[in-house]
Order: sequence, then C-alpha cells, then structure tokens
Amino acid sequence: MSFEPVLLRNAGHPEVRDIDGYLARGGYQGLTKAVKELSPAQVIEMVKSSGLRGRGGAGFPTGNKWSFIPADPKLTRYVVCNADESEPGTFKDRALLQADPHQLVEGIAIASYAIGCQRAFVYMRGEFAEEADLLERAIGQAMEKGYLGRKILGTDFALEITLFRGAGAYICGEETALLESLEGKRPMPRSKPPFPAIAGLYASPTVVNNVETLVNVPHIIVNGPEWYASIGVPPRNTGPKIYCLSGLVKRPGWVELPLGVTARELIEEHGGGLREGRRLKAFIPGGSSAALLTPEHLDTPMEYDTLMKIGSMLGSAGVIVMDDSVCIPHAMLRTTEFYYHESCGKCTPCREGTFWMVKVLSRIVDGAGTSEDIDRVLAICEMAHNNALCALLEGAIAPLTSSIHLFRDEFEYHVRHGRCPT
Ligand SMILES: Cc1cc2nc3c(=O)[nH]c(=O)nc-3n(C[C@H](O)[C@H](O)[C@H](O)COP(=O)(O)O)c2cc1C
Repeated sequence: MSFEPVLLRNAGHPEVRDIDGYLARGGYQGLTKAVKELSPAQVIEMVKSSGLRGRGGAGFPTGNKWSFIPADPKLTRYVVCNADESEPGTFKDRALLQADPHQLVEGIAIASYAIGCQRAFVYMRGEFAEEADLLERAIGQAMEKGYLGRKILGTDFALEITLFRGAGAYICGEETALLESLEGKRPMPRSKPPFPAIAGLYASPTVVNNVETLVNVPHIIVNGPEWYASIGVPPRNTGPKIYCLSGLVKRPGWVELPLGVTARELIEEHGGGLREGRRLKAFIPGGSSAALLTPEHLDTPMEYDTLMKIGSMLGSAGVIVMDDSVCIPHAMLRTTEFYYHESCGKCTPCREGTFWMVKVLSRIVDGAGTSEDIDRVLAICEMAHNNALCALLEGAIAPLTSSIHLFRDEFEYHVRHGRCPT
C-alpha cells in the first residue's frame, strides 16, 4: 500500500526545521485556526470526534483525556509532552523530533490552548542530544515569531514551553514517574487515582501526551475530524500511525501507514521480508512489552482493539521480527533482564518479580533448570500479574508468558540439552 505521509510529510525537507521552512509548507495553520476561530471546547470536540487515541502505548482517547481537565480558570493547568521514548524497538518519536520539531511545538500549543495551559513541558530522553537542540531552536523561533509567548497571534492566549532532559531511565516514560522526575524527585510511579488530569505536575491538572499523539493535532484542526476519521479502521482505530520495524527483516526502519495495516504488509512489503532462506518464527507487535504473535497472525490488522482481542497489544507499534534463527528462551532472558534492570524497585511485585523471573529463567537457559522451573516462571508471572504500581511489570510478564505458551518446547530443550534448539 502506498500512503501519503501526514505526520512525517516533512521528512526529507530539512528546511522545515527552521520556522520559515515550516511556514512555507503550511505550518502553524492549525494553531492559527484554533486560537482565532475556535473555542477551547470546540478544539477538544474536534479531537474527540477524530477518534485520535494516545500513541504512547495505552491508546487512551486523547479528546476524552483533555476533557477530564477541570475547566476552573483559577487552577493552573499543564501540558506535558512525553518524549522519553525508551520502549525497546521504538524510534518513531525520535524520527518526528528530527524531521519536524515545529510540528510538535504546534501540537503542544494547540493542546495547551484547548485545556487552558500557559506553561507546557517536554520531557525528553537524555540521549536525544541532537533532537533537544532542534527543539530548543524551534521553541526560540516560535517565540520570536509570536506563535509562543504572550498574546499569541494577537489573542489573549499565552504559552511558554520548557524542554527538560531526562537521564535515561525507562521508568521515566511512565507518566507519573515522569512527573516526579520533572518535579526534581526520584522517578517512581505514583499510586493512581488521582490521575494526572486531576492531580499531576505540582498537584495541578495535567495532560500527559506522547509526541506522536500531539503531532496529529494540527492536522485534525486543519483538515477536520471527518478527514482524520476516514483514515485507518473507523470508528475506534483512526488516523495515520508510524510503525517501527526492527529485528530480522531486510529493511528495518519506520514507515507511516494508516492504522490497521497487516503485519504481513509491514514485514513483507515495507520491511523487504526476511533474509534468504529464513522463515518467520514470531513477532512482537508493540514494543518489547507486548505478547508474542506467530505467523498465523500475519494478516491481523495492527490496531488497538484487534491486537488486544488476540491477547497482545499495539503499544508503541515497535514491531520486532524474529526468524527461525532466534532462540526464544535466550531472547526472553535478554528482554526480562531489561525489565529487571529498569524496575524502579518501589513496589515489591515488580522489584521481586522481575528478579525471580531472571533468576529462574537464567537457570533454564543455562541448562541448569528443570521442567518445574518453567512452570515456576509462569507461577511468578501469575502472582505478579496486575499487582504492580505501574505497567512496567506487565511489560515483563506479557512477552515471557506468551513465549512459554507458544514455544514451551524450546524451553524444555534448554532444560534437557543445556543449549539452544536453533
Ligand atoms: C514503564 C513505562 C514506560 C513508558 N514509556 C513511555 C514513553 O517512553 N513514551 C510515552 O509516550 N509513553 C510511555 N509510557 C506510557 C505513559 O505512561 C502514558 O500512558 C503516555 O505518555 C500517555 O500519552 P498518550 O495518551 O498520548 O499515549 C510508558 C508507560 C510505562 C508503564
């Protein structure tokens, strides 16, 4: 399928990183229309009816999230853009930041107008040095030209955007840990409720949205929610989506397509298929935190609801491909070690659960385990399931349990022979 990119339409036009280039390609029309022609409530209504869902992982409807912010003008309200992007297999926000930083500034400004925020933050993964410079520059240029600052475009709307750089911890992407970090504290998730919309940054109502979510917004305002909802699989899975392809495909990279493209099209057409003589063993559709799928799922539409129905998730749409050269127990040990390392340790199920998952799994992979150890890993996962403060632990459990259910023979092989079946 060929698809005219929307979010990455300016990739390959490096002049848009400067405001004049961005304006020349239609930039800031969405913000201009929002502040001059629409009320904040109308903006929220447009985003709601577009069907836009959060692209950070959970797929929560964006317009609904914005509408939870109390309208009380006495309350300080914040927009926080989540640019932490640490999910293994995911590199779409980085592509957006590199290609088109003003598009993000515009999306944040429209979101801020909609909820009555005058101070927005971007929480950016520490390793993104070039992207931080690009965004700083874009913010400065937008201030100079009157798209940020006081009296934006001659209206009463005022907004400042502050860039905050993290120090490279996966947990900082979890929205409440991110807010703690932004407040200068150790990044550990808060217990919810209250959700950030009621008590977020400095206990004030806060919208936390992913980079990709926010860059959709100018297009919804300019082209209308009906246009947006006609892309993808309406009514619940609409709009363009950036899929990231990694692992054992010939052409890894990102590609923007309508939400709901099949994994077959992604892997075979856009990824160039597998290496010569290899066959597909498994793929993870939504970053390393999603349950594994197998070749029988190749024709499944890659959207929120269908993937959820078959026991996995779209997550961050980081599609990781494994061919028949991959040893699944090894791959799962590596993945689980990541979650153990990144667990913040605040809650016991996650701190202890990921520790014991790694310990028993290592024993199995090293050939020192037993068949009962395989069931023990499943029992640890079952005990930990739905018991943590945040979703990091579920991200460790889903790939691991699904891999044991789908490829138990490979785990048994390690137990019996002390080496990989591949
Ligand atoms: C451990 C963990 C890491 C996360 N990392 C990110 C991230 O890097 N970027 C992101 O946008 N959301 C991440 N999320 C999801 C956020 O908590 C939150 O749902 C999201 O930023 C909301 O934005 P959205 O509604 O636009 O998707 C993470 C969640 C968890 C549990």
